[in-house]
Amino acid sequence: MPARILVIDDDAAFRDMLCEALVSRDFDPVGVGSAEEGVARAKAEAFDLVLTDVRLPGMDGIEGLSRIKEAAPESEVIVMTGYSAREKALDAVRLGAYDFFAKPFSLAEMEVVLRRALERRALLAELRQLKSAMAAGRGPVIVGQSPPMRAVVDMVRRVAPLDSTVLITGESGSGKEVVADAIQALSKRAETPFVKVNCAAIPENLLESELFGHEKGAFTGAVALKKGKFELANRGTIMLDEIGDMPLFLQPKLLRAVEQKQIERVGGAKPIDIDIRIIAATNQDLQSLVAQKLFRADLYYRLSVAAVPLPPLRERKEDLPLLVGHFLERIGPRVGVNLRGVSREGMQLLFDYDWPGNVRQLANLLERAAIMSAGEVLTAAEIGRALDSPARPVPAEAGPDALPEAAGNLRDTLQDMERNMILTALKKTRGSQKDAARSLGVSPKNLWNKIQKHRIDPAEYSA
Ligand SMILES: Nc1ncnc2c1ncn2[C@@H]1O[C@H](COP(=O)(O)OP(=O)(O)OP(=O)(O)O)[C@@H](O)[C@H]1O
Ligand SMILES: [Mg+2]
Repeated sequence: MPARILVIDDDAAFRDMLCEALVSRDFDPVGVGSAEEGVARAKAEAFDLVLTDVRLPGMDGIEGLSRIKEAAPESEVIVMTGYSAREKALDAVRLGAYDFFAKPFSLAEMEVVLRRALERRALLAELRQLKSAMAAGRGPVIVGQSPPMRAVVDMVRRVAPLDSTVLITGESGSGKEVVADAIQALSKRAETPFVKVNCAAIPENLLESELFGHEKGAFTGAVALKKGKFELANRGTIMLDEIGDMPLFLQPKLLRAVEQKQIERVGGAKPIDIDIRIIAATNQDLQSLVAQKLFRADLYYRLSVAAVPLPPLRERKEDLPLLVGHFLERIGPRVGVNLRGVSREGMQLLFDYDWPGNVRQLANLLERAAIMSAGEVLTAAEIGRALDSPARPVPAEAGPDALPEAAGNLRDTLQDMERNMILTALKKTRGSQKDAARSLGVSPKNLWNKIQKHRIDPAEYSA
């Protein structure tokens, strides 16, 4: 959008000339002949910048400037002095004008100053937004005060306002999505689309058109043009979750999107420019995928410019009390109990556990314990029982009555079920991943990824 500029000058010929020059330089000017009129317009509509003469009939430009600054503090004002009135010009700067010109001035000179003023305005707007977002506590809370979590929050604050690509790594359930949400909420793109794609959840043969879209007739079944996630997220942010599952053949296309901000629809003849911020996340060790030639090194380096590694919960158990408090506060209303805490012995059990499923597992466990609990304080016995009874998969032939009480969030429950189904399959196949993959109906590579994600050791089942 071109910048809107209010031009205040009583010399109609000069004003028109200036407005024309501004239009030809891609600005959107509005000209008025008096400070009174200028103030009224500035009150009624938003201008990025005001260009005002000092000597005007009626209210002078200096008075006009301070009224405009009152009404619209975000507008930058630049003053033009017709006669060599440097004194007046300095007054103006003191009153908040960004700069001044002495007439006559060259249009080239003017353009440079205008652009600089607009840049400053954008920067200030960004800062204001960031501050208010933090003050309002908008965006998800990243709970944790341990040194590694402080480092994470620090990093989030630092990278959020930049437009650079971010790579979030960490074990399953360690909070990668929470961090991605925080980065988006604290960025200047907070109000623009945030599109999330789970690369592991989309079959390889559909992923390309899902991400990049396709032209009508690009392949059998492509009956209409379809925009991909990148185009849908234009001007906003895209989260590429489980980026480690991005098939090799698509990685060059992704690299181009990251590096040149250009995509091409399947069957498309020309590249499309996109304005996008990319957040990638994975629980896999990309470096080792690179070593195995399953992930392109150039893409890896490009993605990891700004990396946010999340520590697993077992390495920051001092966060347990805060996390427990945070989750009980949310679970209480859902189960209709005012949950006040976990007994000391119960807390000890939580400290002794090593949390392979990280924060998600903790949240699920507390919810299970709360459902089974009788009181407002969760006891060691209740915590212990919840630790021993992970959600069990339900046999397909069982009717809906056999389904467990639907509690908690769908995704977390599905993750639990996925883990259990894999464990059951591995038990049945005595640890053979190939057979387990077949019985689960997924590819061996897909199963391997999931085994890594859930930190399952198939060797345990080969006995
Ligand atoms: N630091 C945290 N503060 C508050 N809640 C958290 C934190 N970390 C994780 N959670 C909660 O734990 C659950 C799992 O977090 P999240 O979905 O972000 O994990 P993830 O790393 O993306 O996992 P996966 O690899 O399985 O996708 C969510 O319900 C989330 O709200
Ligand atoms: Mg996730």
